[in-house]
Amino acid sequence: MTTLERRTLCLQMQVIFRLAEREDLPKLEWYGKYTHFRRVFERTYEEQLRGRRLMLLADVNGFPIGQLFIQLESHDGFGRAGRKHAYLYSLRVMDAFQRQGIGSALLREAEMLLRERNYASVSIAAAKENVGARRLYERHGFRVIAEDAGRWSYVDHEGVTHYVNEPCWILEKTLR
Ligand SMILES: CC(C)(COP(=O)(O)OP(=O)(O)OC[C@H]1O[C@@H](n2cnc3c(N)ncnc32)[C@H](O)[C@@H]1OP(=O)(O)O)[C@@H](O)C(=O)NCCC(=O)NCCS
Repeated sequence: MTTLERRTLCLQMQVIFRLAEREDLPKLEWYGKYTHFRRVFERTYEEQLRGRRLMLLADVNGFPIGQLFIQLESHDGFGRAGRKHAYLYSLRVMDAFQRQGIGSALLREAEMLLRERNYASVSIAAAKENVGARRLYERHGFRVIAEDAGRWSYVDHEGVTHYVNEPCWILEKTLR
């Protein structure tokens, strides 16, 4: 008998959308994949405590399998005729959970949080080579308004500064 039978087990899972708590921070490193962003996560969490950013998570069984961060007072648009503008970034979903609507749900949740806070518009960047991300944002009503050199830097968990150069599209959506 050489045939290998594959047995299956169908699972139903509940995904909870919530803001990050301090104990989530090590889990956001996804077992080493994002250890280099440890300080970024810590700083973003401190900003959330100060009311400047939000760390939105997609949680399965207490583990953040997806994330989307929100900068509440984006310098790009905040103050544009007194209208509040936010910036979304770091949207990611663990590979094994992709293509099941979680990225879309994170975008919808973020928009809801911003509408509740009377934000007029929101923007997001998509790397030019990430055509899938741009398609996802356009499907959600974002429109390209500009392009950007996408130069930014971060300090990793060992204190080393990394410079990123990732040309991107800037997309925007009106919320009201
Ligand atoms: C971009 C990203 C966050 C999308 O997350 P996701 O959970 O896969 O997003 P969704 O499932 O909502 O949508 C992705 C695709 O799956 C499709 N999809 C959604 N639900 C589905 C389902 N139940 N069955 C099959 N396909 C489905 C969507 O239609 C979409 O199709 P498209 O690729 O043709 O546009 C994810 O791919 C990711 O983490 N990528 C790496 C990081 C990254 O690139 N982030 C963006 C930075 S700009």
